[in-house]
Amino acid sequence: MGILDGKVAIVTGAGQGLGRVEALELARHGASIVVNDLGTAADGSGSSEEPARSVVEEIEALGSKAVTAFGDVADWDAARHIVQTAVDTFGDLNIMMNNAGFSRDGMIVKMTEDMWDSVIRVHMKGHFNMIKHTMDHWRETSKAQGGAPIYGRLISTASDSFLMGNVGQPNYAAAKGGITFLTMSAARECQRFGATANVILPRARTRMTNTGPWAAIFEKPEDGFDTFAPEHIGPLVAWLASPQASHVSGHILQLWGKHIRVFERPQPALDHENETEWTVAELDRVLGAHFEGKKPVEDGFLLPMA
Ligand SMILES: NC(=O)c1ccc[n+]([C@@H]2O[C@H](COP(=O)([O-])OP(=O)(O)OC[C@H]3O[C@@H](n4cnc5c(N)ncnc54)[C@H](O)[C@@H]3O)[C@@H](O)[C@H]2O)c1
Repeated sequence: MGILDGKVAIVTGAGQGLGRVEALELARHGASIVVNDLGTAADGSGSSEEPARSVVEEIEALGSKAVTAFGDVADWDAARHIVQTAVDTFGDLNIMMNNAGFSRDGMIVKMTEDMWDSVIRVHMKGHFNMIKHTMDHWRETSKAQGGAPIYGRLISTASDSFLMGNVGQPNYAAAKGGITFLTMSAARECQRFGATANVILPRARTRMTNTGPWAAIFEKPEDGFDTFAPEHIGPLVAWLASPQASHVSGHILQLWGKHIRVFERPQPALDHENETEWTVAELDRVLGAHFEGKKPVEDGFLLPMA
């Protein structure tokens, strides 16, 4: 008996990296999996059916059920088709693991329109499309059951990049921030169906992190615990998808190695009702005191890497 027996999951971008690990983990716990992957290069260019096919084979070798769906998550109709594949093949959809994406990094002064548009498109529109078509299905299912709750889990993938405002990733940081607050909004709407929505912030060694300025941090150690092995992310996804997490919704969970953090929505650092109307002088009195001695940026919300 698995904690996800009888459940149906879509994992987007499941042909390699984190998506592959998440699909395998959900399958190990009993879920049937739609393996979506467009098979792009690391910068989002090109396409191939091979990665999704090979992960379906890996899942079937575990004795679990899986089917491919090769569509582009950021294409409205293709996204609807991926959801329909789950319903047509396995009879329902319970777990929507949004993971597909790529990065095209550059400083703002070097960023082209295409670098901006393509990264915003794959992450933000990709997440929205999959959430939208999934929630349409849940609404219809709940209606057909006379308004009874359904079993639904939305899991979105954001990144440290939005928390830290990574330099050289303005498009990626913006997209991941957008995904986070899209998911917060979905979490509220999901309450109508009894479903949940949460965001994960993974840190792991994949082709996205094994080159560039972070590569050395993510390297596999010669011996000892491999902190950034992507396999560590799987259990968090399976737990969020499980009945155990039915009351967990609207949260941001970060995991790497043996470490876990839970973030809530941004909280005010200053919450003050003034006795008089605001003037520049009054703002200077209150805000001047609040920001006294703080350095620009470094004393903001930035977090250390570990
Ligand atoms: N690796 C990390 O440390 C890390 C950290 C934070 C967030 N993330 C996020 O995790 C997710 C997975 O990244 P990864 O590191 O495994 O990268 P990856 O490049 O190994 O895998 C991404 C997969 O998404 C697929 N894909 C790309 N565009 C697609 C589209 N339009 N439709 C369907 N599939 C598409 C690719 O073919 C690829 O198989 C991404 O959203 C990434 O931003 C990764």
